[in-house]
Amino acid sequence: MNGKEKRIIALDYSSQEEALALVGVLGEEAAYYKVGMELFYSSGGDIVRHLKADGKKVFLDLKLHDIPNTAAKGLGALTRLGADMLNVHASGGLEMMRRAGEVVAEEALRCGMQAPVVLAVTVLTSIGGDEWARLGQVEPVNKAVLRLAQLTQEAGLQGVVASPQEAAAIRQACGKDFAIVTPGIRPAGVSVDDQQRVATPASALAAGASHLVIGRPVTKAEDPLAALRRLAAEMEGA
Ligand code: C5P
Repeated sequence: MNGKEKRIIALDYSSQEEALALVGVLGEEAAYYKVGMELFYSSGGDIVRHLKADGKKVFLDLKLHDIPNTAAKGLGALTRLGADMLNVHASGGLEMMRRAGEVVAEEALRCGMQAPVVLAVTVLTSIGGDEWARLGQVEPVNKAVLRLAQLTQEAGLQGVVASPQEAAAIRQACGKDFAIVTPGIRPAGVSVDDQQRVATPASALAAGASHLVIGRPVTKAEDPLAALRRLAAEMEGA
């Protein structure tokens, strides 16, 4: 994997035009983009096709959570769009994750395309201790995250989305080839916005993250290209 593919720029926009304008500004400096619910629900598969036609990699972050058959078939349909990375919620269970991985691999083979990486979300980073307790959970969040990461691996999926604070324990438990994709990245001196558990690019990589998801530090910067270049330099110096 080259260094550029470790940085995934979050296209958190509600229109394809705004998203593609940023893609144009970042040019060759960005190789990997994340399309979430907001953009996908407003532009459908078009945005994925556009990015792929432009030679970019795409993480389609739709966090599917349903019964095994429905979630797996949904991921199968997303596989046909040509995304490079897809995800489900680990709390959908072992069987759901296993079926999802199988259907994605079968569908990619049938279409003659490379199978996308399938990740699981362990516990949403927006859920703090109080909310966790309200949900009736007694196990500490960090233990649950680790257990769900191991379950993800047991199901045959390739990695997880996790906060940078959880990355080191997951890396230790799940080994060197497991993908750990971390949002909540903030270069030193940049606003943390609404993120609770943040890390600098260098410390997230040092903790074992394989990919960094970067949103507002680049998308809301006065000069997004300059902000991305600074961030890239910080990663390369790590
Ligand atoms: O703007 P910012 O860098 O905070 O964007 C982070 C991106 O990662 C957003 O698209 C957000 O939805 C996503 N994300 C997150 N925390 C998670 C999962 C996804 O911040 N646990």
